[in-house]
Amino acid sequence: MAAIRRHPKFDGVYISGPNDNFRLFTQNLDLNRTIYGEKLIEEKGVQYREWNPYRSKLGASIRANARKIFIDRNSRLLYLGASSGTTVSHCSDILSQGIVYAVEFSPRSLRELVQNCADRPNVIPILADANHPYEYAPYISDRIDVIFQDIAQPNQTEILIKNVYRYLEPQKGKFIYTIKPRSIDTTANPTEIFEGEIRKLEAAGMQIMDNVSIDRYQTDHIVLFGRYLNPPKSES
Ligand SMILES: C[S@@+](CC[C@H](N)C(=O)[O-])C[C@H]1O[C@@H](n2cnc3c(N)ncnc32)[C@H](O)[C@@H]1O
Repeated sequence: MAAIRRHPKFDGVYISGPNDNFRLFTQNLDLNRTIYGEKLIEEKGVQYREWNPYRSKLGASIRANARKIFIDRNSRLLYLGASSGTTVSHCSDILSQGIVYAVEFSPRSLRELVQNCADRPNVIPILADANHPYEYAPYISDRIDVIFQDIAQPNQTEILIKNVYRYLEPQKGKFIYTIKPRSIDTTANPTEIFEGEIRKLEAAGMQIMDNVSIDRYQTDHIVLFGRYLNPPKSES
């Protein structure tokens, strides 16, 4: 296998092979443990886990040339829709000095997440519904730099906005948001749904900085990268 090297843009992300068709890795924080059957590779005394873009929308975004991923080794990340921890675990590898607050409302998935991340001190699993951001505030001791949301719900944009208002600082906070228009409305035109969700975000004070189609890895999915500018001015 070709040597593993740093990704040219993203802290904590590693690649091997040609620049236009690379394999993706993170440095394994939890030695010898795998989460979803990914490959482990040792090189020069360092253990890497392969990051499968077909299983992770953040991995897919990197493969699909996202301009920024916002997270680095020091980030404090609020992850909504953690499931059993596939992408959370790669974020945990990247955030070696940071923390991932991983929110999931399915007790069964959370149980798997807890088992999978038991030896990852920077992952805090939280059983909660992302519709109610105030309910998990007691478990979040830091200011949040980035929200990553990967939940398929008809009101998913409203969920993101509530969490942005509760946890991000205007002008500073960033978000990464996965959208599959058909999960929001199965009947309407996907392009119109997508544009409607962007309008909602902009009206709520968000700016979309990048819009990455990951259709090649996850059918019909788009990942939005944006930042929180300001809360909208009240009309009264
Ligand atoms: C597509 S899966 C997430 C996969 C995960 N992000 C990954 O890449 O490893 C979506 C998850 O969101 C969870 N979910 C859906 N609605 C939610 C809500 N309102 N609050 C918290 N979790 C939710 C589901 O239970 C499911 O585990």
